[in-house]
Amino acid sequence: MNPEKDKIYIVGNWKMNPVSLDDAETMFDEMENDVYKMQGDNIEVVVCMPYVFISDFDSDGKIKLGAQNIFWEKQGAYTGEISSEMLRKIGVKYAIIGHSERRKYLGETDEMVNLKMKACLAGGLKPILCVGETLEERKRGDAGEIIIGQVERALAGISESDLRGKLLIAYEPVWAVGAGMTPSTDDVMSVGLLIKKVISKFYGSRELAENTPVLYGGSVSSQNCFDLVDKTGLRGLLVGGASLEAREFVGIIKKFVK
Ligand code: PGA
Repeated sequence: MNPEKDKIYIVGNWKMNPVSLDDAETMFDEMENDVYKMQGDNIEVVVCMPYVFISDFDSDGKIKLGAQNIFWEKQGAYTGEISSEMLRKIGVKYAIIGHSERRKYLGETDEMVNLKMKACLAGGLKPILCVGETLEERKRGDAGEIIIGQVERALAGISESDLRGKLLIAYEPVWAVGAGMTPSTDDVMSVGLLIKKVISKFYGSRELAENTPVLYGGSVSSQNCFDLVDKTGLRGLLVGGASLEAREFVGIIKKFVK
């Protein structure tokens, strides 16, 4: 086994939960206790929690810390924003970029996503780039085109050497996020292959494509998680709702421990 190439990523996205630090500590400690007991080297577990809690957690523990967003400038007069630089200094290793909820509620465009991708890498964080089609786009048969466009525009102007060993891409069909339904494993597999093809063509590098982990996200549970990776050739999962309950999240991780 090649430890890097075969690594499975299980990323929890807590979104705007929980409301108190006490609850965040309870959830995290419960998860971490179990992960300490069981985790082999083949799994990277990441929790992306609200900014306000992050610095209260040990960044050198078994669970890595991630952010749910960043701003594209390093510092300055940008009210309410947080930079990748600031996050790295408190031990954050990953940042979700371009989540569909940010695209929907905050008007995040592909151009903003591209600026954030650049800032994320420049600040020393690994981006987890989210792409995915809406239900209408899928029904129209446009899913492939949408995903190709999102990947290409997110990566515009970023060199292969800047991405090597850092980029992760999460395929999150918008219609599956928080909806209790998932695409078929065949559909997930074909989008995974499509994303690899886009990267390979965009950079003229099959190696980069092969080494870029593609994750699936959208209504993942301990029931459906194994097939979504095992039957698709993907390299992990971005887990929303199911990451808010320690037992369920740990149940997902356990399925992949070797
Ligand atoms: P969900 O969210 O697992 O609750 O569908 C996934 C995500 O938004 O990353």
